[in-house]
Amino acid sequence: MSRASARACANLAFVKYWGKRDAALNLPINGSISMSLDSAHTTTRVEIDPGLDVDEVWSSGEPAPRAFASRVITHLERIRSLAGSATPARVQTSNNFPAGTGFASSASGFAALTCAASAAFGLRLSRRDLSILARKGSGSSCRSIHAGFVEWHAGQDSDSSFATQLADAQHWNLVDLAVLVTEREKSVRSSDGHRLAGNSPFWHSRTLSIASRLAEVRQALLKRDFHRFGREVEAEALEMHAIMQTSAHERGGGWQSGIYYMAPDTLRLINAVQRWRRAGMEVYFTLDAGPTVHLVCLEDQFADVLDAVHSLEGSQGWRTIACRPGPGARLLSGSDPA
Ligand code: PMV
Repeated sequence: MSRASARACANLAFVKYWGKRDAALNLPINGSISMSLDSAHTTTRVEIDPGLDVDEVWSSGEPAPRAFASRVITHLERIRSLAGSATPARVQTSNNFPAGTGFASSASGFAALTCAASAAFGLRLSRRDLSILARKGSGSSCRSIHAGFVEWHAGQDSDSSFATQLADAQHWNLVDLAVLVTEREKSVRSSDGHRLAGNSPFWHSRTLSIASRLAEVRQALLKRDFHRFGREVEAEALEMHAIMQTSAHERGGGWQSGIYYMAPDTLRLINAVQRWRRAGMEVYFTLDAGPTVHLVCLEDQFADVLDAVHSLEGSQGWRTIACRPGPGARLLSGSDPA
């Protein structure tokens, strides 16, 4: 029986992937830039087992929910067909952070699955090919293949849409203090959000300005220019949320003017960040498709930012996770590939 285990980190996008030009292949409308998050990861073990009739998918020691299991099995099918195999596999996966709260568990999950399953099935893939393959399982997971600071190139087609490393994890001492203001699961999946993005009246203007946003963030990051970087990153998050909030659609028989991923405490914390900045603290925020606020600062400001969060009234129920630039997806020892 061949087996492999892999671990991959979640990633935080500074320029966002929101909107697909091909939903089946997860080809994005635009490129994106992210940081791999060292303390939020998924560990996945894949065992190829001829004794099984069908694939088995376990999540944190329990049979995985049906929707998640079926995405995993579809991805296993892709990898099996590349390897020319038909043998079922057992997949065991677990996260060290709560899923569905704006911390992209599908990114770390599909990066770890791609790495473990391709090794278990005996494929020897380059990081570029792993990134392309991971992308087909979940778009943002193509960035979690790499360490440090990463750019996903939108590309022309499937073979040219993959992520590369912009700078390694030692390049810049940025910290993402993720503040989970609620652990309630989000009500609209990101796959639905991507599909609805084009309904926003602001969508067209984003497609015109996104190339200059990417260039600004890339340059600020490479030059370690924190002021310029923070401003672009915060404006980018709010631009994405403006599009989400104006993506009108019908849902459950009713008209919705848009999607709100923010919770009341998300806004409270955003207001606090703007206050703290006026008082001289160098901290910016970004958000993904969920209520979690990611506070971005340099290492020398981190203790002050953490103190400020803890001294906010009503913050007792919040959970914080501090992440630094992390490693890329990697196989763990104990792997015994085909
Ligand atoms: O990869 P998905 O389909 O979960 O989309 C992720 C979208 C955002 O997290 C909101 C932005 C991003 O670039 O990660």
